[in-house]
Amino acid sequence: KMRKNIVAGNWKMNKTLQEGIALAKELNEALANEKPNCDVIICTPFIHLASVTPLVDAAKIGVGAENCADKASGAYTGEVSAEMVASTGAKYVILGHSERRAYYGETVAILEEKVKLALANGLTPIFCIGEVLEEREANKQNEVVAAQMASVFSLSAEDFSKIILAYEPVWAIGTGKTATPEQAQEIHAFIRSIVADKYGKEIADNTSILYGGSCKPSNAKELFANPDVDGGLIGGAALKVADFKGIIDAF
Ligand code: G3H
Repeated sequence: KMRKNIVAGNWKMNKTLQEGIALAKELNEALANEKPNCDVIICTPFIHLASVTPLVDAAKIGVGAENCADKASGAYTGEVSAEMVASTGAKYVILGHSERRAYYGETVAILEEKVKLALANGLTPIFCIGEVLEEREANKQNEVVAAQMASVFSLSAEDFSKIILAYEPVWAIGTGKTATPEQAQEIHAFIRSIVADKYGKEIADNTSILYGGSCKPSNAKELFANPDVDGGLIGGAALKVADFKGIIDAF
């Protein structure tokens, strides 16, 4: 296939600066003598970015933020802009994570602004979508993810082709309850089909769609073996190099 396989870590709100530096160094060393069969990205808290970016071999490990502001600059106390993220050397930003949607009120419209600002500042958004358990039980997952995709369906084809998608069923995040490979493949294929409807088959075929939610070394291979699953967005297992490396090695 043409599109990239990617394993991206999301550290969430874990690790002091010193611990984060140690984790990044350890991962860099673990990858020193080999070329992974996928792109590797680590997304860290804002305060780690400027320290971690120069520590890792940029040819092997990309660095990203976990969020950015929906405004370009100004009187927004406590916020961090896409421009500031890019100024650290970071290249990626996770946007629309279900925790941001659920706990910080991020809507389709807010996320549309964030995605546009990220792209305008040269960052690659890792845009997350996914349904909650109730919606899955009501068999509404397709319409939920289709509605969430409205944040990125206003992009030009050129801009859309720069983004990475991550499907994360909320019921699988941090729960130990992974989607089955069949469930992942089915909805990833659906997501690719709506991208094709909007932007055409070529762009759809070139879009990497990652799976997230209790992905571990023990289940990564069977998830990544599916034709429409192009890697993973990894939470808990990204905090230990042995686990994260085990997932990278699933490719
Ligand atoms: O962004 C990562 C996901 O929320 C998955 O988290 O691997 O801890 O389930 P998890």
